[in-house]
This record gives sequence, structure tokens and C-alpha cells, in this order.
Amino acid sequence: MNKKGFIFDLDGVIVDTAKYHFLAWKKLANSIGVDFTEIQNEQLKGVSRIESLQKILKWGNKTLSEAEFNRLMSMKNEDYLSYIDKMNRSEILPDVTKILDFLIENNQPIALGSASKNAPEILNKVNLFNQFNAIVDGNAVTKAKPDPEVFLKAAEAIQIKPEDCIVFEDSVAGIQAANAANMISVGIGEKQVLFEADYIFKDFTQISTHFITKLIEK
Ligand code: BG6
Ligand code: MG
Repeated sequence: MNKKGFIFDLDGVIVDTAKYHFLAWKKLANSIGVDFTEIQNEQLKGVSRIESLQKILKWGNKTLSEAEFNRLMSMKNEDYLSYIDKMNRSEILPDVTKILDFLIENNQPIALGSASKNAPEILNKVNLFNQFNAIVDGNAVTKAKPDPEVFLKAAEAIQIKPEDCIVFEDSVAGIQAANAANMISVGIGEKQVLFEADYIFKDFTQISTHFITKLIEK
């Protein structure tokens, strides 16, 4: 059987952690007198921790010393981790395990390609860590999505050529990164937002094993 590389983003694809990022960023922004809305939170999808804080400060017209900036980044992360700590398998998004199990049954290499430095911890919490052949996360990359680095490293780790990889992503920057890596991009979310993707599905309940088989056989 053919082997393709299946690369998954984490936040918004495997688990819905955007709601915890929102709570933690909102608390932090409000603590320095800056407003933070759900709409702004949307714009932080796929964006690294450091760039997220830079954007929030820009929106609020604030400048901080480097020490204060770093202090706020750790504060946000500590708060975020207090939510992560309570996560369990029930927070895996619908039908994600169905697709992962199907790929494993069919001996297809699976990698994680995420901007999050908390990825291993989250995968452990939802008990999916062992389903992945390789994990490339925010600790392993120097360039954030839309740069293709994270996906190219993931492909290398599972020893599959980029053009034989399929990426599942919920963010615009992530779709652009997958396209830039010369991989097949599968958007998980809204068509109007993810129109640059090769395929778009609302969520994994809309993805059939038949579709996956077609990708493998391509
Ligand atoms: C991305 C999320 O996956 O990871 C972003 O979509 C987040 O919202 C980024 O900022 C970095 O995550 P972390 O866990 O390292 O702060
Ligand atoms: Mg995401």
C-alpha cells in the first residue's frame, strides 16, 4: 500500500483550545487595561505566543519593557495551563480519533505540526500522544506559520516527501504554510475563511474514510 504523510495541526483541529487561549489572553489584556474580544481572538489562531502578545499590545497601543513583556507571556501561559490541566479525552473534537485510528490501521505515518509549545502536554492530557509517529511543535521551529518550516520538519521526521504529505489545518496561516510546503492542504472550518485550501470540511465528521483512502491511493 502507498504511504502518505498525514500532518495534523493541534489547536482547533484535534482539540478546541481556542476558548482557553481566549480566557487567558483576555485576563492578561484586561489586567493592563486593554480590551480583548472574541473577534480579536480569531485573529490569533495559529499565531505564536510571542506574536500574539505583540498584536494585543499593538491593538491596545501599549509598549512594554522586555522584562515586563516576558513576565506577561509567562503569566498568560500559567493561566492557560491551569485550563489544560483539567483537559481529558472528552475534549477531542468529533471523529478525530476515527480518522487517526483509520490511518494507523492502514500503516500511514502521522505527525503533529503545531505552533504550540504546550503540544506534548495537551496530547498527553487527551491521551493521544502515542498515536503520533513524530511531534513537531513550537519548541522545534524558528519561523512561525505561514512559513512552511513546521510542516517540512514534520515531513522529514516521518520520512515522507513534502508532495506526499497531507496537512489538516484550521488557520489561514497554517493553510498558507502547507501550500508553501507543496503539500495537500485540508482546511477544517469555514469555506469563506479557508478558501486557499485544496479541500475544506466543516469538521472531521464530514471527512469519510473513503476520502482518506483516495488521498492514500493518489
Ligand atoms: C497555536 C494556537 O496552535 O499555538 C495559537 O492556534 C497559540 O492560538 C499558538 O498562540 C502558541 O501556543 P502556546 O501553547 O505555545 O502558547
Ligand atoms: Mg490551529
